[in-house]
Order: sequence, then C-alpha cells, then structure tokens
Amino acid sequence: MYKCAIILAAGEGKRMKSNTPKVLHKVCGKEMINHVIDNIRSAGIEEVNVVIGKGAGKVQKGTESRNISYSVQAEQLGTGHAVMCAEDFLKGKKGTVSIFVGDGPLITEETVRSLTNYHEAEGCSATILTSVMADPLKYGRIIRNANGEVEKIVEFKDCNEAEAKVNEINSGMYCFDIEALLNTLGKLNNNNNQNEYYLTDVIEILKGEGKKVGAIAVDVDEITAVNSKQELSVANEIMRSRINKMHMDNGVIIMDPRSTYIDCDVVIGQDTIIYPGNVLEGKTVVGEECTLYANNRLTDAVIGDRVTIESSVVLESRVGENTTVGPFAYIRPETVIGSDARIGDFVEIKKATIGNGTKVSHLTYIGDAEVGEKCNFGCGTVVVNYNGKTKNKTIIGDNVFIGCNSNLISPVEVENNTYIAAGSTITNKVPEGSLAIARARQVNKENWVHDKYNK
Ligand code: UD1
Ligand code: CA
Repeated sequence: MYKCAIILAAGEGKRMKSNTPKVLHKVCGKEMINHVIDNIRSAGIEEVNVVIGKGAGKVQKGTESRNISYSVQAEQLGTGHAVMCAEDFLKGKKGTVSIFVGDGPLITEETVRSLTNYHEAEGCSATILTSVMADPLKYGRIIRNANGEVEKIVEFKDCNEAEAKVNEINSGMYCFDIEALLNTLGKLNNNNNQNEYYLTDVIEILKGEGKKVGAIAVDVDEITAVNSKQELSVANEIMRSRINKMHMDNGVIIMDPRSTYIDCDVVIGQDTIIYPGNVLEGKTVVGEECTLYANNRLTDAVIGDRVTIESSVVLESRVGENTTVGPFAYIRPETVIGSDARIGDFVEIKKATIGNGTKVSHLTYIGDAEVGEKCNFGCGTVVVNYNGKTKNKTIIGDNVFIGCNSNLISPVEVENNTYIAAGSTITNKVPEGSLAIARARQVNKENWVHDKYNK
C-alpha cells in the first residue's frame, strides 16, 4: 500500500527558551527532526512532508539535505490545523499517511514499521501510537469504552477528573487512511480549553462514523517529547544509552557508559576499548582494537586500527594504524597522520601530513607542512608557518632528524636524510644528506665573572 508521512514542526517551542527552533536542537549530534525523518525513511516511507511555521526558514535549511517537501502553517492554530495546512500534499493520494511530531526524536524505525503494519493489516481508518505512563503528566489521554475500543483522545487541559487518571497516553503519532483523514479535517472545531484545532479530535469523529480505530502501545522512552532543555537532556540520555548499547553489542568495550558520549553516526570497530570521558562526535570512525584512554574529543576523525589516544583532541583529521596520540595532543583540521607514528604530549598539528613511522614526541607545533616518513622531531620544534600576513608551507622529506628547539621558517624545504642541529633556525633549503647548523657559535669569555664583579 502507498505510504507517506507528515511531520508537525510549526510550533514555536516557547519552553525551550532558545533562538534555535525547537526541532533543530540536537540529540546525540543530530537535529531532532532529522532523527524522525531518517527513521521514517529507514522504515520504508519515502515521501515525507514537514509542516513548518515558526522559524520556517531555519527548519527548511536544517533539513535541506533530507530531500523532503514542506507545507506552511503561517499561524499555529493547533495540530489539526497543522495537518489541514498539508492538505495539498495529501490530496489525490490513496493509502496510509503516518503523522509524527518533530519534537519526538526517540521514535525508532521498528516502531514506525509496526505501527504502519498493524494499521494496514487491521484495516483501520486510524491507528494511534500510545504508551502507558505511571505519571501521565500533560499528555492527551486515551479513552476506551467498555469493550476496550478507543473512543477518543482527551487533552489534559480538557480532562474531567476520571479522564485525568487514565494512564494510557497519546504519543501524538498516528497512521491514518488518507481519504478518511481528509474527509474529517473539515469537521474539526476549536471549541476547547485552548481554542485550537486538535488533530486528536479526528479519532472521536471517525469512531462516531463507525470507522475502525486501532492503537498499539510502545515503551514510553520512544515517545518522550522534548519541550524544554531539561527534557532535551532526558532525550539525550535515552539516545546515548541506546547508542552505547549498540556499540557494546557490536563488540566495543565501554568502561563506563554513563560517561561516554558517542554521536549517532559514529562507527567503532570491535575490541576497541573506551575509557571514561570520551566524546566521539560527528562522522568519526574508529578502527578495531584501538584504546581510547580517558578524556578525548574526536570530531569527524578517522582513526585506523590499533591506535592509542589519550587526553587529546582530534578534529577533522585522519590517524593511521598503530599510531599513538597524546597525552595532551591537539590535532586540528586537515591533518593526516600515517601509521606507526607517534604524536606525543603538548604537540599541536594543523593542516599537515605526517608520514609513517615519524615521531613528534613532545612540545612541538607543526602547521601547513608535509612531513615524510621516519622523521624525528626534537622537543620544542616549531614550524613557523605564519609571518604575520600569510601562512606558508614547509616540506620535510624522509629520515629527517630535527634537533631540539629548532625553528623552521616557512616556506622552506628540508630534503631526505638530513640532520638539523639543535637550536637551529632554518630559513634556507637543507639539501639531501647534509647537516644544517643555523645558530650562533658558542663564545666563552674566560674570567668574565671575576673581571666584572671581582669575585
Ligand atoms: C500533542 C497532542 C497530545 C499528545 C502530545 C504528545 C494534540 C491536540 N495533542 O499535545 O494528545 O499527548 O502531543 O507529545 O494534538 N504543532 C504544529 N502546529 C500547531 C501546533 C503544534 O505544527 O499549530 C506541532 C509542534 O511543533 C509539535 C507538535 O505539533 O512538534 C506537537 O505540538 P504540541 O503543542 O507540543 O502538542 P502537545 O500540547 O504536546
Ligand atoms: Ca509536545
């Protein structure tokens, strides 16, 4: 059967107290609405329409990579009105429309599937996704008749005392037969405590017309909606623990899941060990059998197999297999480090390539450089890439030994198999096979202390 989906995302989200539209707030690195879109798509529903209103431009921009269509709800007159604004999207279609909320990022692909499967298998005109809550708070209540059939949904603000006590709540997510929904939207009114056109009233109308209304219940974690920053933290926590569990199921060792923060698109190989305080963000990929000791931030980093990283930051860079990084290294964007390399403590590398087997063990800055294989950087080496106006490039060959506390003034080239004496300031090319010494000769002034101070 034909399937499509509508996501309601026109509301302002006042309680978020934010300049960013509510649905663009991120949960584990991805905007809430994009979680919803991606899960709908994974469940096999291709055509997605998002109802936008408040912050429409930003929401459109934040979802543009998803290739969806939009309906505009200029004034927020309720969830029923929001769906009316998507009438053009639905008109002429026959089949099932699933409706989701942009602030419910925890809905899973499996649940989207079981909701539509149930709806279609049972031949329902409407199927509600519900949940049972110990404390049902402000959610709409599912009111069933003596036979256990769903009669209607009553909003919390419109509940009588008995209805308020009902524990089964409306997730705000449903499936509808498209024609049945279109025929009902015109019958909605706003005679309620919030003077809004409630989508939830469609249920009672359909039931009154003798149509079949179904409901399936899911765990409350899946339907938790985010209306405030506090609820955003709850959603993050739920998503985070799902992500950590998925990686552990795949064979990753996470020492303390409660202090491990992994974004939803991160990939990690099996037998990698993750110590507390790791933050793995964006499109980071970590290989197999790596050790991430405590306190790293890896953002859009690609890490090979058997790499060890400790207390370091790696941004938009690649690290080859068997390499060790840190403690306290700072690898900045566009860096490519080879395999079997060593990047040690207090080393900063920016926009540079470092060849296989090269060691940069301590207190060194390398920026805008190409470094070959099996080089050794002495402690305190600085690639002086900036002259105050422009950034310039340094090229270093293979098997270069750079003595401690050297400066390489860019642009400059150091050829293969060379040595640079400690304390040198290199401004000219160092030709292959040579030793470069670029420092003042030592002068000893004998008896200087005695002559000056008469000691
Ligand atoms: C809604 C349901 C309630 C359910 C709850 C689940 C109605 C009347 N009530 O209540 O039964 O328990 O969700 O979270 O449907 N939106 C628009 N346009 C509008 C109003 C809302 O696009 O005019 C969007 C919002 O951006 C949001 C979603 O619809 O993404 C839900 O709106 P919200 O105002 O949060 O509804 P609730 O009062 O929480
Ligand atoms: Ca809500």
